[in-house]
Amino acid sequence: MSGILVIGGYGAVGAQVSTTLDGWFPSQVIAAGRNPDGARLPATVRRVRLDLADIAGLERLLDPGDIAVVVLCVEPADATVAETCLSRGVHLVDVGASDHLLRQVEDLADRATVGGATGVLSVGVAPGLTNLLARRVHERLGGAQQIDITVLLGAGEQHGADAVGWTVSRLARPAAARPRRYLMPGHGRRTAHPLDFSDQHSLRRTLGVPSVTTRLCLDSAFSTALLAGLRRLGVFRRPTLRRLITTALSRVHLGGDGFAVRVDGVNGDRHAALALTGNGQSRATALVAAYVTRAVLDGALPTGIHHIDQLPVLADVPERLAAHGIVPHSLG
Ligand SMILES: NC(=O)c1ccc[n+]([C@@H]2O[C@H](COP(=O)([O-])OP(=O)(O)OC[C@H]3O[C@@H](n4cnc5c(N)ncnc54)[C@H](OP(=O)(O)O)[C@@H]3O)[C@@H](O)[C@H]2O)c1
Repeated sequence: MSGILVIGGYGAVGAQVSTTLDGWFPSQVIAAGRNPDGARLPATVRRVRLDLADIAGLERLLDPGDIAVVVLCVEPADATVAETCLSRGVHLVDVGASDHLLRQVEDLADRATVGGATGVLSVGVAPGLTNLLARRVHERLGGAQQIDITVLLGAGEQHGADAVGWTVSRLARPAAARPRRYLMPGHGRRTAHPLDFSDQHSLRRTLGVPSVTTRLCLDSAFSTALLAGLRRLGVFRRPTLRRLITTALSRVHLGGDGFAVRVDGVNGDRHAALALTGNGQSRATALVAAYVTRAVLDGALPTGIHHIDQLPVLADVPERLAAHGIVPHSLG
């Protein structure tokens, strides 16, 4: 049993997951989605048609017992997909960024449905690399009381439709904290606005830090200010306008493809900050997912459901990404 099923396996993230894993495990990768025919993937990656809403279709793929791990590169409606995999002893790597869904998967661990499988959550850039940096900052401070996570995305990157839709849907929610200005390595001082990424919620559970806030800015200061202004006006709460803006953001690319994440922690009068910079957040998300999948297949991870920051074996993923041009920065 060594097959790797990448669901959403030819999207912006999934295509790079499928391609990277195919390089490491030739002819073991199957890329799944609703319309796989035109997928641009190496010839050694098999394509299958699968709609996540069709759980019987997923069961038919898993039941012969050839699939060892499912990499989930599209957001499901609930935890049924995770349960279908884990209850069959199939490992799960999930790049999802919605806390309500991650909590549903966490809850599967209490229902004895996980068998001998491993589920890894918070896989990617944010959540993912942000969780790993947050753990380091927390440890460096001997326990942070507050953590602030800042994510800078390149407005010029061709982000996937699902990722753009996810971000716009979060902009429909009121900001839960104030904007803040931070020096983002390679991008100068930037104003970032709170957004409901899952890391700020799961890190309270995994690290026990009482206050965690995640903020987002784009490399284009103009686009960041425009989105913040539209959010204040409540524009994203109107479904028609939300759809129009999602389409516009998917087509107009005003900026580069560089990304940066920065994590600041405070404990009393002590402060620590770490950052990572690179190009292509979809590519970086895919690389993290590929390294996590390899660790799962190597048998290096314990069974059960874990966020990435709870797995010491994965603590050095940021260093492994240096080979791919993703650079760490210690900011004090
Ligand atoms: N953790 C992180 O840092 C991070 C970073 C980026 C993205 N993400 C998450 O990763 C996910 C994918 O993002 P993306 O940028 O790759 O989006 P994308 O380019 O739109 O890719 C989505 C993929 O999923 C497939 N898909 C969509 N609905 C499906 C369904 N019902 N059943 C089966 N396949 C389906 C699509 O193909 P078809 O349309 O042909 O089905 C496509 O291959 C999103 O949930 C996003 O929030 C996480």
